[in-house]
Amino acid sequence: MSRKIWTFDTTLRDGEQVPGAKLNKFEKLEVAKQLKKLQVDIIEAGFPSSSVGDFEAVQDIARKVGNTDDIMITALARAVQGDIDAVYESVKDAENPLIHIVLGASDIHVEKKFGKSKDKILDIGVEAVKYAKTLLPEVQYSTEDASRADFEYLWQTIEAVVKAGATMINVPDTVGYAEPEEFGELIFKLNDRLKNVNDQVLLSVHCHNDLGMATANTLAAVKNGADKVECTINGIGERAGNAALEEIVMAMNTRPTAFQAHTKINTKEIMNTSRLISSLMGLDVQVNKAITGENAFAHSSGIHQDGLLKSRDAYEIISPKEVGMDDMDLVLTARSGRHAVKNTLEKLGFTNLTEAQFEGIFEGFIELADTKKEVYDHDLYVIIENYFREQS
Ligand code: KIV
Ligand code: ZN
Repeated sequence: MSRKIWTFDTTLRDGEQVPGAKLNKFEKLEVAKQLKKLQVDIIEAGFPSSSVGDFEAVQDIARKVGNTDDIMITALARAVQGDIDAVYESVKDAENPLIHIVLGASDIHVEKKFGKSKDKILDIGVEAVKYAKTLLPEVQYSTEDASRADFEYLWQTIEAVVKAGATMINVPDTVGYAEPEEFGELIFKLNDRLKNVNDQVLLSVHCHNDLGMATANTLAAVKNGADKVECTINGIGERAGNAALEEIVMAMNTRPTAFQAHTKINTKEIMNTSRLISSLMGLDVQVNKAITGENAFAHSSGIHQDGLLKSRDAYEIISPKEVGMDDMDLVLTARSGRHAVKNTLEKLGFTNLTEAQFEGIFEGFIELADTKKEVYDHDLYVIIENYFREQS
């Protein structure tokens, strides 16, 4: 049976941590409206204690996008009262507000970053959750750097904050250090214990991409019991970025038997969302990026183009329409064959060419294709015009 997986989009918080990607509050609101259209379950709208501008942006999103009960709005707080108050004040007007608290869980964070004992950090976490619970019923606790934490201490922390009232536990691979097998195993063990303590608490993961494994780690977690995935559009985020929402969602959709899980994402809005965020943040999407890259549905080799025109499933595992693109893109290059050129000509309206006419035009195409990287529609018009002029 397919399990529903919650999507928590942190494009406006972790994604906005990309240098130079800062948005103003009007731009953040536009992104949040689009994320709602995409049907994410939770929007992390910012880090309100960081600036007045961010506080106002989160508040605006909570009021204008969080005004229906099909979406939750959250923002990030460190485990200190001032941060928790700022989150509460900024999200409280949403229909479904959530406070998100983060505190280190690995020895590196506890001892080197905070210079405190493990017991002290655990107490601070528990007190922060208890305080947040006096403000709102929904509280998420993130055990920062969980993938490098001592397992028994990590579990002790999770058990204590759940008993203090946390309703979501997030397990971050903060520095993208995990690999799928071990991360899957970690989630399996935590899920097993957590569901014995309280089976209503959602187990979440938050993976970074430092070793290029954010999506793989997230999906390994889903296979091993995670209920919720944290991600960003186009995989943007701190350093090498976060797990990309579009990759996780389309992997589950394309391989239902492998993952037995689904989200409520409206996949037809993926491309619009990707383009909006890329242009507002000024961050180009890598051309070969899975799902949202310019070449993700472009086919350039003659062998592939011919195969696709005979049967699309020969080289296409996702229909571009499913992610909101018009259609696959046959890129005409010197490696393209007759089949692809004919198909493009037909799309341009040249459906009645005789064989001889087509051969003459194809000759012109090959001549031009040898001199440039790509042959565009306007090049074909010139080739056709030249051909017919020569014939007259
Ligand atoms: O990477 C991380 O650990 C985070 C937490 C705030 C969840 O972004
Ligand atoms: Zn992060």
